[in-house]
Amino acid sequence: MKKTFLMFASLCFFATSYAQKSDAKMNAFIDALMKKMTLDEKIGQLNLPGSGDIVTGQAGNSDIGKKIKAGEVGGLFNIKGEAKIRAVQKVAVEESRLKIPLIFGMDVIHGYETEFPIPLGLSCSWDMNLIKKSATIAASEASADGICWTFSPMVDIARDPRWGRIAEGAGEDPYLGSQVAKAMVEGYQGNDLSKNNTIMACVKHYALYGAAEAGRDYNTVDMSRIRMFNEYLPPYKAAVDAGVGSLMTSFNEVDGVPATANKFLLTDVLRKIWGFKGFVVSDYTSVNEMVAHGIGDLQTVSAKALMAGLDMDMVGEGFLTTLKKSLKEGKVTQAQIDFACRKILEAKYKLGLFADPYKYCNEERSKTEIFTDANRKASREIAAQSFVLLKNQGNILPLKKSGTIALIGPLADSKMNMPGTWAVAARYDKAVSLLQGLKETLGDKVKILTAQGSNLSYDKTFENNAQMFGKTIPEDTRPASEMIAEAVNIANQSDVVVAALGESAEMSGESSSRSNIDIPDAQQDLLKALLHTGKPLVLVLFTGRPLTIKWENDSVPAILNVWFPGTEAGYAISDVLFGDVNPSGKLTTTWPQNVGQIPLYYNHKNTGRPLEGKWFQKFRSNYLDVSNDPVYPFGYGLSYTTFNYSDVHLSSNSLKGNQTLTASVQLTNTGTRKGKEVVQLYIHDVVRSITPPVKELKGFQKIELQPGETKTVSFQITPNDLKFYNGNLKYDWEPGEFQIMIGTNSRDVKSANVNWSK
Ligand code: BGC
Repeated sequence: MKKTFLMFASLCFFATSYAQKSDAKMNAFIDALMKKMTLDEKIGQLNLPGSGDIVTGQAGNSDIGKKIKAGEVGGLFNIKGEAKIRAVQKVAVEESRLKIPLIFGMDVIHGYETEFPIPLGLSCSWDMNLIKKSATIAASEASADGICWTFSPMVDIARDPRWGRIAEGAGEDPYLGSQVAKAMVEGYQGNDLSKNNTIMACVKHYALYGAAEAGRDYNTVDMSRIRMFNEYLPPYKAAVDAGVGSLMTSFNEVDGVPATANKFLLTDVLRKIWGFKGFVVSDYTSVNEMVAHGIGDLQTVSAKALMAGLDMDMVGEGFLTTLKKSLKEGKVTQAQIDFACRKILEAKYKLGLFADPYKYCNEERSKTEIFTDANRKASREIAAQSFVLLKNQGNILPLKKSGTIALIGPLADSKMNMPGTWAVAARYDKAVSLLQGLKETLGDKVKILTAQGSNLSYDKTFENNAQMFGKTIPEDTRPASEMIAEAVNIANQSDVVVAALGESAEMSGESSSRSNIDIPDAQQDLLKALLHTGKPLVLVLFTGRPLTIKWENDSVPAILNVWFPGTEAGYAISDVLFGDVNPSGKLTTTWPQNVGQIPLYYNHKNTGRPLEGKWFQKFRSNYLDVSNDPVYPFGYGLSYTTFNYSDVHLSSNSLKGNQTLTASVQLTNTGTRKGKEVVQLYIHDVVRSITPPVKELKGFQKIELQPGETKTVSFQITPNDLKFYNGNLKYDWEPGEFQIMIGTNSRDVKSANVNWSK
């Protein structure tokens, strides 16, 4: 024991002193470089313009090329291609005075060319190894093509499904969100940022972007510190703790100050409390947008942003064009410019760009390591793990690999819509539609009849707004009744109907908020007509957000929610529909009955007048016209098999101080197939100094069981799991009674109580 400790201690000492030595080396290098830099060159490092008009072969003569030569650019983003990036880097390291390499970023959000499910879908796998693997693969592909920096993970907690960017995050829970944040950062950065197949992550959007009022993108955020620290900030902090190299500010304001110039967020919390060592970049023109926010002209807002702790200005060039003047006028300090410049240079150093500016530009790698069979296989497997089986009445699913299937719906054959939102580098040409996937996986075992059945929506304006960037679904100009009649005719000739309905990819994502989150009208009419045929029907639901599908849940026998599964969509959906993969995804957001219930989330407070018993109760916290229940609670998802939970067993009912409590259940696979179950641990602090949520996720395990098999699933709970930010924003726990709950989702749990004294 002693010997192991000594070995461990000397290893730690070695690691620390090695880190100190390499830090010292980096610092000496940067000190020497910064001594040579002019003020303009320092400010140039803080500038991240859009990639503009760059064409390979003429990089140096483009507008951006001229700026690079003049030392006015620190990095570029969203340029795709190893050769193009190499050409631009050449301008920086051969034609600028100090030859400082550029950093190349991209929105590699859920994959590079091999696209994985949208992040909300990925989170529903509750499988941190798979999520990490998706980021590792994304990093290896992006880095093989010249990219060394990704604007991911997006960890904004979102409780409002009207907000389109809910698609880009891990849902509503701070604990799960933190685990995902860590897995993504570790996946991108690996354990060595200087390797050529890892890239720097950028956690975003700091902070509270997901709490935009009314779910309208970029809207105002106003929140108490207690809520902020307990419910919204943990995933950003988890990314910082995992060593994320950079952080992006958000568009919204917090406490009346836009995040991009918010000193409380960027300096007091991020640097001083959390000890963040990386650099902070603005969001796209978010410096300039502070003029519209109403806190000053471009010079003023740029100065405010720098002094608050922003290091790099994305696109708007407020820093580039005004900081020199502000320095002369005493509105910013030389020390702050130096600090920001140092942070950018440190990132470049850590990425190894000074040692080899072309280390991510490798023609061979770009040809052989991107969109490989192995990566596509991984994407297919991961996609299948992200699907959530919402309903399966009479075990319609899995389908038999025989007979005739009617595949109907506007999303049945749309490769363009499979990668989902924010898939900048995706191979859309190679994305696999559901129809293609079924045909290729089933061959001639199953006869497939198809019809589009409806357009996306009757509302043409909405339809146009939701089909940007070429992600269209060809408009059928026939009357809706004719399209439906054709679909019904096909349905009548089939053994089972698969309806591929829901949102198009651009109905969620940035600037894609919706005030109505139903399945669009035209598709609902189609669905009703198909149900009317009396044929067994499976709804394959595509969506980037929770939808209000109360009627569908009441009426449709089987619903498989597939989000936007990525480039291998059609294969992955086929794998699950036909039972080659047993679905095991669980929702990471609550699905409300209607928009009026929003925000609806599982970890809410009790209020002084909770509904006790059945809805409706006068003078209790509820609605006249709808119950407080969701359609599907957080953590919900079915399987082709069934699981039984025993009662919760606690190692003790009375604990003290730093003791560890073991809470366990016996989990049994009571069905006839092998399956995976996400066992969820929730804790409720019965009494504390600030009102507690009714329950909070504190642990989970994904367990695989053979039919008939039983396993004991145990959670080790320590006082750390009981901590929260109290009224003085002190992170601590308070003694008393705790309810320990374990179950299959946030609603269906078994519980036992424990008393924990200090
Ligand atoms: C988005 C960011 C993204 C950036 C760069 C912005 O519009 O809010 O999430 O990283 O653009 O493309």
